[in-house]
Amino acid sequence: AKEPVRVLVTGAAGQIGYALVPMIARGVMLGADQPVILHMLDIPPAAEALNGVKMELVDAAFPLLKGVVATTDVVEACTGVNVAVMVGGFPRKEGMERKDVMSKNVSIYKSQASALEKHAAANCKVLVVANPANTNALILKEFAPSIPEKNISCLTRLDHNRALGQVSERLNVQVSDVKNVIIWGNHSSTQYPDVNHASVKTSAGEKPVRELVSDDAWLNGEFITTVQQRGAAIIKARKFSSALSAASSACDHIRDWVLGTPEGTWVSMGVYSDGSYDVPSGLIYSFPVTCKNGEWSIVQGLPIDELSRKKLDLTAQELSEEKALAYSCLS
Ligand code: NAI
Repeated sequence: AKEPVRVLVTGAAGQIGYALVPMIARGVMLGADQPVILHMLDIPPAAEALNGVKMELVDAAFPLLKGVVATTDVVEACTGVNVAVMVGGFPRKEGMERKDVMSKNVSIYKSQASALEKHAAANCKVLVVANPANTNALILKEFAPSIPEKNISCLTRLDHNRALGQVSERLNVQVSDVKNVIIWGNHSSTQYPDVNHASVKTSAGEKPVRELVSDDAWLNGEFITTVQQRGAAIIKARKFSSALSAASSACDHIRDWVLGTPEGTWVSMGVYSDGSYDVPSGLIYSFPVTCKNGEWSIVQGLPIDELSRKKLDLTAQELSEEKALAYSCLS
C-alpha cells in the first residue's frame, strides 16, 4: 500500500475549500490509489466552521482519507505537508484600495512562506490560488528562499479550462477533444487566452482550432474577453465567485504536475519566469508547460505573432506593477 500524502489546504473553511477537500479525499487530485491526510488551515473567526467541515469529512467515510488535521495554527498546518494548496487570503471588500488588499495578502503570504519553508516536507509542491494569485506566489517564493522556485506555482488552470470550454461550446465538440490552448500572464483580466496553437481531435485527424473556427473576429475578440471576464460573469450569476470550477482546476493542476501531462498535450501554469518568450524574469507568469517526473518545463519555440506579442507584454507589464506594489507594502 502507498504511504499517505499530506495535502494542506489553507482557507479550507471558505467556498473553494468546501468544494476542494472532498475532491482531494476522493482521489481526484492525486489518484484513486493514493491515500491522503488532509491538513486544513483557517483563521480563528472561521474555526467553528472549519471544524464543521472536518465533521463532514468524517461523515463521508472516504476510504482514501487517512487523517484530518483542522487547525488555526500555521505551524501545525504546514508540518510535514507534501502538497500545499493556498486558498486562504484577504478578499477585496467594498471601498478598499488595491494597495490595502495587496498589503493584507503580502503579510499573509510572507508569514505562510516562512512556515512552509521551516515545516513542510522537503520537495513540497506549492499551488497558490488566492488572489492576486501570481503576486501572492511571488511573495511566497521570495520569503521561502530554500523552497526551490520550481516548486512554487499559481493557478491559471481554471482560465485554461474555461478557454477549452469556450472552444468546445463554439464548435460543438467534446471538451476532452480540445487541447493546447494557452493562458499567458496574470490571473486577471489582462491574461491572454491564446488559441493559435490549439487543436481539436476530429474523425479526420487533429485540426487547428484556427482552421475549424473560421470566424477570426470571434477568436480575436469575444472569445478572449469571455475567458478574461468569466470570473465576473460567474459572480453576477451566482452572487459568489467560482468555487467548484476553481477546486476542480486546482486538482487538475496538481494531478498533472505530479503525475505528468499526456504526450503531446500542454497545460497552463503560473510559474517563475526564466525569460522564456522574452517575459521578464522575476515574475510569476502563466506559460504553456508540460510535466514529467514531478517537474514542469515551459514549452519552447512556439511562434508568437504581433498581436500575441502585444498581449504577452501587456499582462507582463501589469505583473511588474503588481510586484512593485507588493514590494511597496513590505517597506
Ligand atoms: P472565501 O472567502 O470563501 O474563503 C477564503 C477563506 O480563507 C476564508 O475561510 C477565510 O477565513 C480564509 N482565510 C483568510 N485569511 C486566512 C489566512 N491568513 N490563513 C488561512 N486562511 C485564511 O473565498 P473563496 O471563494 O474560497 O476564494 C478563495 C480565494 O481564491 C480568493 O482569493 C479568490 O479570489 C481566489 N480565487 C482564485 C481563482 C484562480 O483561478 N486563481 C479562482 C477563484 C477564486
